[in-house]
Amino acid sequence: MKRSIMRQLLSPAALFLVLFFSSSLQAESLGAEAQKCVDCHAKKTPAMVTDWQSSKHAENGISCLDCHVVDADSPMGTKHPGIDAKVSVLVPPTVCGQCHAPQVEEFNTSGHFRAYRQQIPKDSLHALTSIHEGREHPEFGGAPNETGCIQCHGTEIKLDEDGRPTPETWPNSGIGNVYPDGSTGSCGVCHTRHKFSNAEARKPYACASCHLGPDHPNIEIYENSKHGHIYRTEGFTWDFEGKPGEWQPGEDYRAPTCASCHMSQVDGLEMTHNVSERLYWVQWSKSSPVRNSDDVMSPVLGNGPEGRKKMRQVCESCHSSDHTDGFFTQADKAVNLYNEGYYKPALKMLNGLKEKGLLRDNPWTDPFQVKYYYLWHHEGRRARMGATHGAPDYAHWHGFFELMQDLYELEGIYEKRMASGKIED
Ligand code: HEC
Ligand code: HEC
Ligand code: HEC
Ligand code: HEC
Ligand code: HEC
Ligand code: HEC
Ligand code: HEC
Ligand code: HEC
Repeated sequence: MKRSIMRQLLSPAALFLVLFFSSSLQAESLGAEAQKCVDCHAKKTPAMVTDWQSSKHAENGISCLDCHVVDADSPMGTKHPGIDAKVSVLVPPTVCGQCHAPQVEEFNTSGHFRAYRQQIPKDSLHALTSIHEGREHPEFGGAPNETGCIQCHGTEIKLDEDGRPTPETWPNSGIGNVYPDGSTGSCGVCHTRHKFSNAEARKPYACASCHLGPDHPNIEIYENSKHGHIYRTEGFTWDFEGKPGEWQPGEDYRAPTCASCHMSQVDGLEMTHNVSERLYWVQWSKSSPVRNSDDVMSPVLGNGPEGRKKMRQVCESCHSSDHTDGFFTQADKAVNLYNEGYYKPALKMLNGLKEKGLLRDNPWTDPFQVKYYYLWHHEGRRARMGATHGAPDYAHWHGFFELMQDLYELEGIYEKRMASGKIED
């Protein structure tokens, strides 16, 4: 989309007049109530109003009122200065879904949907944050969960007696939030409020606030890949605007971003808000199986062979099919080596020690169990994801090289315990 062309054709004075009249037209197309929100908030929270004014929503007459005003009997509604209606600071996906139903449906069938829900039944995760990290502190013990996990995964947002979200559960930008109306997700984490822009969501940083760090370093991996090299070299010159389908490889960008491969419309492939749709393996899990379930709560959510076909379509919009064949042969070999050469032997030793009562009850004080955790959760993910994203530093130095050391250490501890029948001091 070449909006800049229009700018080039207009003189600065003409451009000023066009922008001036189009923004005053925008304002006039709002109803009187909606105009009240904008006018007062332009004084109280001006930065927010500026963001909104530059959005497609403002251009189309969608205002504060459309997203924040709730029914008089809504538990989320609170009284508001200057207006009769009840206002909710929370904007669940049901609100976006009134106008964007397909995106909500796709999100609801993706791995992002379960980001908080999958944690509810897992005692070991709650023990990690509250007992071990939170020190069971009666007052402050919730901090690790509130400042960590929920900011990426989301939580169940609770309301106080005035209908406002509690500070234990909000604000947060977790992707799998469960809202008081029962709906799930956070539609504003990739295209943030109040711009809600496609261009923002198409850039890798939209994913990077969550997909980073030692256990899923996707942004670091991307920067290590040739695609990241090109994006960082010249991405700032590309045009990221336009509706799905108007943003195309070749025309608008030379190398893919996270969104191009996982979500965007590319040639014949439809845009999707289901990030699991183009995947073959499960790579975050202890061992990587092929995806084969349509149950959104299943760890193997997705259809592996179909996912691979779709992902290949993305690659082949720029590369030859031989290049793509060769790439996936290399990547799949790495995932298989991790499964067979690292995870299987580590699990066998873990089970052997368990049978003999040679594991400590507190896994976080047991060198064997801590190392086992690093093997699958950190090093193992880096090796697998490095390989599937063309990132040699992560596949090798942060991946297989460290996996090799983990396995030797596990073997050392295992052999000592089995020989002595004791857990070392
Ligand atoms: C007369 C001024 C005024 C008008 C009119 C007004 N607001 Fe507000 N609004 C405020 C003030 C003041 C706050 C509190 C800001 C703060 O706490 O920093 C606020 C807060 C909010 C919040 C956050 C609430 C929270 O609990 O944190 C939302 C959402 C909001 N307004 C939406 C709206 C909408 C939608 C409308 C129109 C239907 C509207 N406002 C009209 C003055 C106004
Ligand atoms: C397209 C929907 C949409 C529109 C239009 C919209 N908002 Fe919001 N707003 C949101 C979402 C989403 C959030 C995040 C709420 C959450 O965490 O659930 C939010 C949060 C807020 C907050 C609290 C967050 C903070 O940073 O303090 C305020 C205040 C607010 N909006 C005011 C406004 C005002 C004023 C307008 C009009 C100029 C407006 N909103 C227009 C969707 C919208
Ligand atoms: C009352 C209807 C309505 C609601 C509610 C609504 N939107 Fe929109 N949205 C629109 C319209 C209309 C457009 C412009 C469509 C177009 O350009 O064809 C739009 C465009 C968008 C775009 C594309 C922006 C771009 O750069 O082209 C995004 C992203 C978006 N909305 C996200 C959201 C999110 C997230 C929510 C909830 C927080 C939401 N919308 C709530 C009507 C709505
Ligand atoms: C607000 C945090 C957040 C943002 C932003 C985010 N993700 Fe995620 N993502 C997560 C979490 C948490 C999970 C793990 C969900 C689970 O399985 O519990 C996840 C899982 C995934 C998965 C695996 C799904 C599966 O079925 O195993 C993919 C692929 C993915 N994200 C891609 C993306 C892409 C691409 C972007 C940016 C366009 C993005 N994510 C933005 C938090 C986020
Ligand atoms: C920086 C953001 C971030 C933080 C903080 C975070 N996670 Fe995650 N988590 C992710 C992402 C992203 C994934 C998905 C990785 C993938 O798909 O490869 C994930 C995956 C997971 C998974 C595996 C997915 C599944 O469906 O089982 C679990 C369980 C999990 N996280 C729990 C937690 C817990 C518990 C905490 C806090 C102790 C936490 N996470 C902290 C971002 C985060
Ligand atoms: C993981 C990141 C991510 C999340 C979460 C997300 N979006 Fe998007 N969204 C995108 C990307 C990327 C695009 C642009 C797709 C493209 O390039 O084809 C987009 C585009 C859109 C559009 C524009 C469609 C158009 O015709 O212009 C709408 C509407 C939209 N999203 C709504 C939503 C809603 C509603 C939710 C919550 C259910 C949501 N998004 C959650 C990344 C996200
Ligand atoms: C060149 C295309 C491409 C780009 C760019 C890309 N990915 Fe991927 N991604 C893939 C492929 C291919 C896989 C492995 C698919 C499979 O299972 O065969 C994958 C897998 C993943 C997974 C693993 C899900 C699981 O099973 O645990 C996550 C998470 C992910 N990508 C996130 C991202 C993020 C975040 C970015 C940007 C920082 C990104 N990807 C950039 C192609 C890409
Ligand atoms: C928008 C176009 C585009 C898309 C889509 C794309 N790539 Fe690339 N890719 C490139 C460019 C350009 C290079 C740099 C070529 C060079 O180094 O000269 C590259 C480089 C690579 C490299 C580095 C090795 C080499 O050829 O030099 C690999 C591996 C790769 N791509 C794999 C993939 C895979 C796998 C996919 C799909 C999951 C994919 N690419 C999607 C444009 C793309």
